[in-house]
Amino acid sequence: MNHRIQYAVTGGPEVLQWVEAPLSDPGPGEARVRHTAIGINYIDVYQRSGAYPVPLPGAPGFEAAGVVEALGEGVTGLAVGQRVAYVDGPTGAYAEARNYAAHRLVPLPDGVTDEAAAALLFKGLTTHMLIRRVWRRDNGPWALVHAAAGGVGLLLTRWLAHEGGRVIGVVSTPEKAKAVEAEGAEAVLVVPRGGSYEGIPAEVKRITGGAGVGTSFDSTGKDTWEASLNSLAPFGLLAAFGRASGPQPPVELAELAKRGSLAVQRPTFFNHVATPEALRAASKDVWDAHLQGILTARIHAQIPLREAAAAHTLIESRATTGALILVP
Ligand SMILES: NC(=O)c1ccc[n+]([C@@H]2O[C@H](COP(=O)([O-])OP(=O)(O)OC[C@H]3O[C@@H](n4cnc5c(N)ncnc54)[C@H](OP(=O)(O)O)[C@@H]3O)[C@@H](O)[C@H]2O)c1
Repeated sequence: MNHRIQYAVTGGPEVLQWVEAPLSDPGPGEARVRHTAIGINYIDVYQRSGAYPVPLPGAPGFEAAGVVEALGEGVTGLAVGQRVAYVDGPTGAYAEARNYAAHRLVPLPDGVTDEAAAALLFKGLTTHMLIRRVWRRDNGPWALVHAAAGGVGLLLTRWLAHEGGRVIGVVSTPEKAKAVEAEGAEAVLVVPRGGSYEGIPAEVKRITGGAGVGTSFDSTGKDTWEASLNSLAPFGLLAAFGRASGPQPPVELAELAKRGSLAVQRPTFFNHVATPEALRAASKDVWDAHLQGILTARIHAQIPLREAAAAHTLIESRATTGALILVP
């Protein structure tokens, strides 16, 4: 019998339940994928907690790697036994196996392990978007990266540094700071849990010789909003791509003018890879970057799928450095 993780109500990690999930043959255009590694992403927490509304019962998980086990009618370009990964809705990746739209499956090249794929695909594509479509590299080399030791944060730090960006990371512990320095950050600011981010702009100005950063990559949200705005160089961009601490406040355009002709963007991965062609092309860039050592899969822990609640507790506790994956 196939199993998956499901929640009947939103709430804390304890709402995640291990349930039987009978699996039919794949329908037209679908492939059945037997999962070998499943990625955990902070969006799974937003949905489970109710911060992002989802229909109930909810089935968490946007990404997994695995092996094609059966093909539905009309599927071409895929073979039974082929290694693949996917990252998209509908959610439900926290499962032993599932049927999925074949045209949204990404082939896994040799050299990319299933574990690396599950740790990298969503976070690597997000980083790809931030580097290729968001980063204001024309506005000076300096970039501020919040949650720099997180799953996305480590990848972003390394890729920015590789492309000539000068990264100032923000993390909550000295151990995380070491990990971020190892990925190429020039400076790392440590703000302990419960601490104030108020001092960040002054530190950023000191480090950048008064210039400020051209882009602040801010996935923390509410708690770091002011610090991000006040750390920007004139015409700088606040790339608000997540909200781990809560939603960002509304923006007054006049306030952005007053603080230096600033811009605010809310980029989202799903717009970046909206078509199968864009997804495959960007995924290839991510695998290439991985194989060249630009994107390293830093896996904090591999946790059994049925213990998904423990994995959510861990990521929410801010104790992780790099990615978490679930293994069926
Ligand atoms: N826009 C998009 O398309 C997109 C796509 C993927 C991910 N994201 C966003 O990117 C961020 C990173 O995702 P991830 O999956 O790699 O998670 P993650 O960064 O591994 O985990 C979140 C990190 O946020 C920091 N944080 C700061 N304040 C927090 C708080 N109050 N509660 C919890 N964490 C807090 C923690 O680092 P410290 O303890 O060091 O502060 C924590 O480790 C998330 O905000 C996610 O929503 C956005």
